[in-house]
Amino acid sequence: MKIAMGNDHSAVYMKNVIKAHVEAKGYEVIDFGTNSAESCDYPVYGEKVGRAVADGEADYGIAICGTGIGIGIAASKVKGIRVCTCSEPYSARLSRPHTNTNVLTFGARVVGDEMAKMIVDEWLDNEYQGGRHQRRVDQVMEIENH
Ligand code: RB5
Repeated sequence: MKIAMGNDHSAVYMKNVIKAHVEAKGYEVIDFGTNSAESCDYPVYGEKVGRAVADGEADYGIAICGTGIGIGIAASKVKGIRVCTCSEPYSARLSRPHTNTNVLTFGARVVGDEMAKMIVDEWLDNEYQGGRHQRRVDQVMEIENH
């Protein structure tokens, strides 16, 4: 399974922490950067992660900026992407079975390393349930067509 990862300048350290964490769990990471502390624009990286998932290059995406909000908004503009921006594990966990999110974002300036790992674990370790949730997910995706 492949995970597309992207981040802005505020999250280079956090990206590397999470990259090592998911690689240890057996995932292959496609790292879209940035790997520089020089100021850059989060939409560039949010879009790269979103497109990699939407195009099937990656199974999931994880994108990190200062808050997780900007890069999450950017990734969610890509057709086919359902983002969850999470600062705690409970929401990350439920966003998989209920809403089938395919990109996770969070803030390197909001959560610490261990909380981030827990968020990622809950997100990756819980599968989409389908069933009654599918109608609602379909309704969400239909909004993209208007
Ligand atoms: C960059 O300073 C900051 O605005 C960005 O990382 C992010 O928090 C935006 O949502």
